[in-house]
Amino acid sequence: MQKKVFKAENGLKGTVVIPSDKSISHRAVIFASIAKGKSVIKNFSKGQDPISSLNICKALGADIELNNDLIVKSSGIFNKPKKALDCGNSGTTMRLMAGVLAGQGFESELIGDQSLSKRPMKRIIEPLAMMGADINSFDYHAPLKIKGRRLCGVEYNSKLASAQVKSCILLAGLYADGITSFTEPYLSRNHSEIMLKYMGADVTSSHNTVMIKKSKLSPCEIEIPGDISSAAYFIVSALITPKSDLIIKNVGLNPTRTGIIDVVKSMGGDIEILDERESSGEKIGDIRVKYSKLKACTIEKDLIPRLIDELPVIAVLATQAAGKTVVKDAQDLRNKESDRIKTIVNELSKLGADISETEDGFIVNGKKNLNGGCELETYHDHRLAMSFFVAALICCNPVLIKGFEWVGISFPEFEKIFKSLL
Ligand code: S3P
Repeated sequence: MQKKVFKAENGLKGTVVIPSDKSISHRAVIFASIAKGKSVIKNFSKGQDPISSLNICKALGADIELNNDLIVKSSGIFNKPKKALDCGNSGTTMRLMAGVLAGQGFESELIGDQSLSKRPMKRIIEPLAMMGADINSFDYHAPLKIKGRRLCGVEYNSKLASAQVKSCILLAGLYADGITSFTEPYLSRNHSEIMLKYMGADVTSSHNTVMIKKSKLSPCEIEIPGDISSAAYFIVSALITPKSDLIIKNVGLNPTRTGIIDVVKSMGGDIEILDERESSGEKIGDIRVKYSKLKACTIEKDLIPRLIDELPVIAVLATQAAGKTVVKDAQDLRNKESDRIKTIVNELSKLGADISETEDGFIVNGKKNLNGGCELETYHDHRLAMSFFVAALICCNPVLIKGFEWVGISFPEFEKIFKSLL
């Protein structure tokens, strides 16, 4: 689907309620399916990725109904699936489910779409193999053929800060004998640790290390906050589009995810957090953001995992910040739904941005007027589709975004909500 996007002459104004967090939705349906009993999950995401996790949990025997709430009833025991389990475009589904399936008493296969089949799985296969897992792959890529085995705990030191790898190992650790520990160079999002604890697992965290012992999970009632990664598109749009003044309600504010707010503040953006509260162990709040004069900054080190999914839209933000914005230590952006370093640089350059690729990030010279008047590719990548929509709002000429349907992966309501604010 192609989408022609025009300049937003009057800015974005009003109040918006952001839909459910994708990362937490995956975990909620997977963990509830592991727990014996009935769980109630409020505000489950309608994105295609969490639905892939839901369908796999169903294929493994959980009784799941999605109406207003998601109701999961499970015997706490998974059954051998009748066919290969399809993760679609979702890396989170594949990596988390590999951890679950490695310790089951049956064989299974995880498959994915073209983009997911190109993404690296060595990062989970290696530590799972150390725990005794038997996983067959095509040169460390999907499809993954998993022969469930008895696992034992390991002390794993990851070179990568990755919540998907960490969650995979924690889930395998739920079924493994002894203690499983995972250490990462910087702290990645900790939704798994929070929810596992909330559901009664024996899990403890200290700095960048988390430890888990074999545990049974108890069913639970969870309310999922709005996704800060989805809120990011509104935050950036308001900051760069003159006359904007937005309130974004019900946003998850877990400190492992709020890197974008830190960046906006260091760029001098007018952003404030209102009514901070807690729900199911996660911090949430409302965000007020206005059009601002911005200055460049450097984004690196431990900030990277705290805003990894926001980097495409932060690149758009940087085009409107005076000076040189440098993003480094973000090599793993090349392993997302597309090689996001290459794809962001290619496409934003077409709009007239001064942006260049480095090995582990990109450099943007702002502030530049964006011309637009061209076609952009989205490379099967939902975050690119939404970031380019935001960029088009400030382009002098309309922009045609190809493959816009990919937004449905994480944020099917994206365009409808946007239009209500313009
Ligand atoms: C996610 C973790 C991140 C992020 C992805 C979702 C998660 O991936 O990019 O969109 O839900 O655990 P990595 O763990 O590979 O950095």
